Amino acid sequence: MNEISPRPNNLDAFWMPFTANRAYKSTPRMLARAEGMSYFTNDNQEVIDGTAGLWCCNAGHGRREITEAIQKQAAVMDFAPTFQLGHPLAFQAAAKVAEHTPEGLDHVFFTNSGSESADTALKIALAYQRARGQAQRVRLVGRERGYHGVGFGGISVGGIGPNRKQFGAQLPYVDHLPHTHLPAQNAFSRGVPAHGAHLADSLENLVALHGDTIAAVIVEPLAGSTGVLVPPAGYLQRLRELCDKHGILLIYDEVITGFGRLGTFFGAERVGVAPDIMTMAKGLTNAAVPMGAVAVHDKIFRGIVDGAPAGIELFHGYTYSGHPLASAAAIATIDLYVKEDLPARALAMEGYFEDAAHSLKGLANVIDVRNYGLVAGIELQGRDGKPTDRAVKIFHRCFDAGVLIRTTGDIIALSPPLIVEKHHVDRIFGTIADAIKAEAA
Ligand SMILES: Cc1ncc(COP(=O)(O)O)c(C=O)c1O
Repeated sequence: MNEISPRPNNLDAFWMPFTANRAYKSTPRMLARAEGMSYFTNDNQEVIDGTAGLWCCNAGHGRREITEAIQKQAAVMDFAPTFQLGHPLAFQAAAKVAEHTPEGLDHVFFTNSGSESADTALKIALAYQRARGQAQRVRLVGRERGYHGVGFGGISVGGIGPNRKQFGAQLPYVDHLPHTHLPAQNAFSRGVPAHGAHLADSLENLVALHGDTIAAVIVEPLAGSTGVLVPPAGYLQRLRELCDKHGILLIYDEVITGFGRLGTFFGAERVGVAPDIMTMAKGLTNAAVPMGAVAVHDKIFRGIVDGAPAGIELFHGYTYSGHPLASAAAIATIDLYVKEDLPARALAMEGYFEDAAHSLKGLANVIDVRNYGLVAGIELQGRDGKPTDRAVKIFHRCFDAGVLIRTTGDIIALSPPLIVEKHHVDRIFGTIADAIKAEAA
C-alpha cells in the first residue's frame, strides 16, 4: 500500500517549494537515485550534478561513510531531547564543527536548516546586545540581494524582493546595505572583483541615521542565491572595521560558503575576515539529514550565558536541535571532508573551473561570468519582456542533455560537488555552451 513508486500518479498533494507548480506538474522531471557526481532520473538517465543538489552535497552523493553512520545511529537511538538532557553525539558534532570555525567561534547552536540558522543568529545577536547593557540595539541590517532563508527574520534582512512582497508583514527595525554588483566596472572578473570596497561605507550612513540602535549586520561572504556576487576586494575588511568601530556584531551567513565551497573549510578563511557569528547548514551533513548550526564567538556565549540569572540562559531552541541522526551524519561528513581534504581539492580545481566558466564569454547573450572557489555565475541577457524565459529554457535543455544546473532570474549558478573531476567540468560547461547557443534567438 505504501510502496514507493518512481512514478507517482498524484502530483497534486505535494505543494512544491519555490517552484512553478503548474508548469512543473505539466512536464514533471523526477530524480530517482544519486551516486557520486550524478543523479539518475526515473528513466535511468544520468544527470551530472552541477549544483551539488542545492549547494549542499559537497562530498558528492551516496557517500557510504555518512549513510552507515546514519543507519547505525537510527538503530541505537532514534531521538533524544536536548532540552535539559543530552546525548553524546550532539556534543561531539558541535566540537567537530568548532574545530574548523574561525578562532573564538567555539560555541555551536544546532538548528535544522539555513533559515532557522539565520533567525537563530539574529536572535542571539539581539540577546547579546541586551546582555551587555545595549538593549537599545534592536536594529538588524542586511544587504540588498541577500538571501537568508524564508523565516520572518531571514526575509526581513534578506534583499530579494519577490521573497518579501507576497507577504507584506516583516520584522520592524531592519535596514539594508547596497548590494555589491557593479557590472560596469567588474564584469567578467576572475575571482574577487577589484571595485566595490567603498560600498561597505554605507554602514556609516546607516549609523548616522540610526545612531547606536544597530545590533548586527548580516551578509553572505559570497552571495549565492541571488546569482553569485563575489565580495569585492577589501569590502569585507571594511565592513569588519566599521562594525568594530560602532559596536555592531558581524554575522556571516555561511550556509553555502561553508564546508569547502570556497576552497577553505569556511568562507571566512578564504576572504581573510572573521565574523562574530556564523550560520551554516547544507554541507554540514552533506544534506543527508537536515541540520543547520550557528557558531558563536566566546565573548557572545559568555555574555549571554554567564550574565544570566540561574536557569535557562537563552529562550530558544528546536525539538530537533542536535538530533541524533543529524549529529551522526555531521560527524561522519566532517570526517570525510577532512580525510579527503575536500576544501583543498576545491581550491586545486578552481583554476580549471574558472577557465571553463570564462570560456563562455563571447557567446550570444552572455553579459557576465563571475567565479570564486567552486562557484560560478553566468549572467545572460534576458529576452525582451520575458524575464527568466531564456534561463529556464537553458535549464531544461541542459537537464535533458544530462547536466543539472541552477538558474535564478537570468543567471546560471553552478556549484558542483567538491569531488568534481576535469571531465565533469568539461561536460558541464560544454552542455551549457550548447544550450546557450540553441537559445540564442
Ligand atoms: C545563504 C543562505 N542562507 C540561508 C539559506 C536557507 O537555507 P534553508 O533552505 O536550509 O532554510 C540558504 C539556502 O539556499 C542560503 O543560501
